[in-house]
Amino acid sequence: MTYRVAVLGAGIGIKHIDGLLQLSDRFEVRTVCDLNEELAESQALRTGGTTSTSIAEVLADPDIDIVDICLPPVMHGPVTLEALAAGKHVIVEKPMAASLQEADRLAEAERTSGRLIFPVFQYRYGRGLHKLRRLQEAGLVGAPRVASLETHWNRQSDYYANPWRGTFAHELGGAVLSHAIHIHDLISLHFGRVTEISAMLNTSINKIETEDCAAIAMRTETGALVTSSITLGAADDTSRLRMVFEHVTVESGQVPYAPGEAEWQFLARDEDRQAEIDAVPGAADLPLEGFAGYFEAIADHLDGKASHAVTLSAGRDSIELATAIYHADRTGNRVPLPLDRSLSVCNGFKPSEHT
Ligand SMILES: NC(=O)c1ccc[n+]([C@@H]2O[C@H](COP(=O)([O-])OP(=O)(O)OC[C@H]3O[C@@H](n4cnc5c(N)ncnc54)[C@H](O)[C@@H]3O)[C@@H](O)[C@H]2O)c1
Repeated sequence: MTYRVAVLGAGIGIKHIDGLLQLSDRFEVRTVCDLNEELAESQALRTGGTTSTSIAEVLADPDIDIVDICLPPVMHGPVTLEALAAGKHVIVEKPMAASLQEADRLAEAERTSGRLIFPVFQYRYGRGLHKLRRLQEAGLVGAPRVASLETHWNRQSDYYANPWRGTFAHELGGAVLSHAIHIHDLISLHFGRVTEISAMLNTSINKIETEDCAAIAMRTETGALVTSSITLGAADDTSRLRMVFEHVTVESGQVPYAPGEAEWQFLARDEDRQAEIDAVPGAADLPLEGFAGYFEAIADHLDGKASHAVTLSAGRDSIELATAIYHADRTGNRVPLPLDRSLSVCNGFKPSEHT
């Protein structure tokens, strides 16, 4: 089946369209909706579809199967609820929700609507992670031990000239919620769910409300320990993961917005096992990477095939992790997960909402 998609928001939405256009036998980009008509029209020239400036008009269109939400963060939750109510499947950019309570409401709405929510985590689709998954499935890496993560990017005033960025009201959070959310998703995927957090956050690079530096320590359900270093004040843009497993030490590439799309290093602890590790194909049987890989997995999932699509629980976990990080920083406590929903931080990330 070919799924008919409406892309809402033509910023990162343009990259979504790039991915969807690579899968023209699975998806048709029927509408691009943006308040900026020129922007929407420039994309419709590529897709051959229509344009709109009205989300309500798009949701009322019976010829749309999937709504792909690439709008500013504060709109994600409300538009997802409206789209489910209109009978659409939803693809939603990060962060999926404005609070853990809202993430729980989305989960309930998904359950009752009979439609599906697919949070966007396109970093999962790349050759390095593909090989890691295959090694894990083959039982060759052993238990996760420690990992260090770097999200060291350069964001300056030109980036924050976009008025929704840097504000709790519209971006909802800073580098923890917005920028490092992808790399934290990868660690949950390959090291297990996070069960305990300590964190220190700063706003020291730009004149914004939200955090732009962080030092975070996590324990995962596998007993492994993870450190995550985040700044938007680096000289360049580097995303890097180094993961030490029982039998193999794995180092990612450093490609800023697609760390999985580079050749990774897989070093066996016991050098006699290196050949076995090297023999597991990585790039040789590579599926599509980045957004195209992400969308292909969704089409497979909707077609009822086995797939590695990102489902709602990953989006909800990412919101819970960010919530726990804010809570750990603001209380100075080590925070256990799952979070106690009666904590006021579960209602929103803005400090005044719970201090
Ligand atoms: N997955 C990733 O790697 C990635 C990368 C960048 C941004 N994002 C996320 O994507 C989302 C959008 O970010 P962006 O950088 O594209 O922002 P942006 O401001 O560049 O684009 C958002 C677009 O939405 C449009 N818009 C706003 N309100 C609208 C409305 N009511 N109706 C129709 N159109 C409307 C704007 O005109 C704008 O063109 C954010 O949540 C951001 O966190 C994800």
